Order: sequence, then C-alpha cells, then structure tokens
Amino acid sequence: MREQIIKLVEIIPIEFIVRNVATGSITKRLGIEDGTVLKEPLIEYCLKDDKLGDPLISEEHILVFDWASKTEIDKVKKMILRINDFMIGMFRGVGIKLIDFKLEFGRIKIDGKNEVILADEISPDTCRLWDSITEKKLDKDRFRKDLGDLIPAYTEVAKRLGILHEQSNVSAVNVTKLSSVKRKKK
Ligand code: TMP
Repeated sequence: MREQIIKLVEIIPIEFIVRNVATGSITKRLGIEDGTVLKEPLIEYCLKDDKLGDPLISEEHILVFDWASKTEIDKVKKMILRINDFMIGMFRGVGIKLIDFKLEFGRIKIDGKNEVILADEISPDTCRLWDSITEKKLDKDRFRKDLGDLIPAYTEVAKRLGILHEQSNVSAVNVTKLSSVKRKKK
C-alpha cells in the first residue's frame, strides 16, 4: 500500500525555474544556443499569474512587492540547489539528464515556527528530461512540440526509476496527435 502525508501550505506565488542546460524559453529570450551546458545552475523566478502569462521577475521584484521575504528566498535558494544536486544524481543513475525543472514552495507553521517547504509536484510535466545517450526527450516537450509517444516516455522514466514495475499492466497507448484531430466547422 502506498501512503502519502499531505500538508496544507500557503503557496508562495512564484515559480522557481532551475536550469542546468539552456533550452526552451531562455534560448528564445536571450539567443543562447539550444543545449548549452550552463557553468552553474541558473535559478529564474516567474510570477504565478496565468492572466499575465507567468512573467519573468527578479529577486528585487519579489522583495519590493512582498511576494516573499529575503529570509524565505535565501532558504528556498539553498533548498533548490540541494534538490537539483539530488535530482541530477538520481536521474544520472538511470541514464537521464536533468535539463531544467520548475519548483514551488509554501509557507507552513511547524511546532509554532514559520517554515518554507517544497510544494506541488515534480514530474516529467514540470522537468525537462533527456536520455543521457540519445538525448531523446522524455518529458512534456513531447506534447508541447507534438512529438507523440508522451505516455511511453513517461512510462520509461517511471520504469527506469523503479517506481513502475517492468511487468506492470500499464502499457503504452496510442496518443492521438492534436494535429490529426479534425475540428468541426462552426
Ligand atoms: P521554459 O523553458 O518554458 O521556461 O520552462 C523551464 C522549465 O520549467 C521546464 O522544465 C518546464 C517547467 N515549467 C513548468 O513546469 N511550468 C511552467 O508554467 C513553466 C513556465 C515552466
């Protein structure tokens, strides 16, 4: 039986993007060559606001508009680097490169003390994962770029991590490509 402890947090309204290799929005925004290995992990901040398209913001914006305190940001940055180190190692062990990912954090009181903890999911929906040898994308870019085989890719990640048994009855399914769906004319 699998169990999970759920804790309710007050979410910090920031998406923390961690990049080890440049791809996606940063390559378009700054003209960096796709696949450039960064000399150190880069943390970027985006305001969580769908209506505004989750705009990129600076640490100064976060402090001026009180979206988080300096203490919280410093704690979060430390946690991010540890999580990144852990995840790079975990994925490297199963032949996957951790390219980038998104994290969220939340406020919670533990024993009367204000703490900040990791919140929300970490999954191939929120990470870029490339096969170490072939650089095949094993993440949501398969959907974003209409590459197909989304579920087989997610299944492959789960199997390599040993969280889905090889003999599992979850098998690859044919995913209808969005481009092949005929829309009804109005
Ligand atoms: P980006 O290159 O589009 O900025 O994305 C960087 C990483 O953050 C990528 O792994 C996808 C993830 N991400 C999310 O999970 N949710 C989001 O809303 C955004 C903007 C990025």
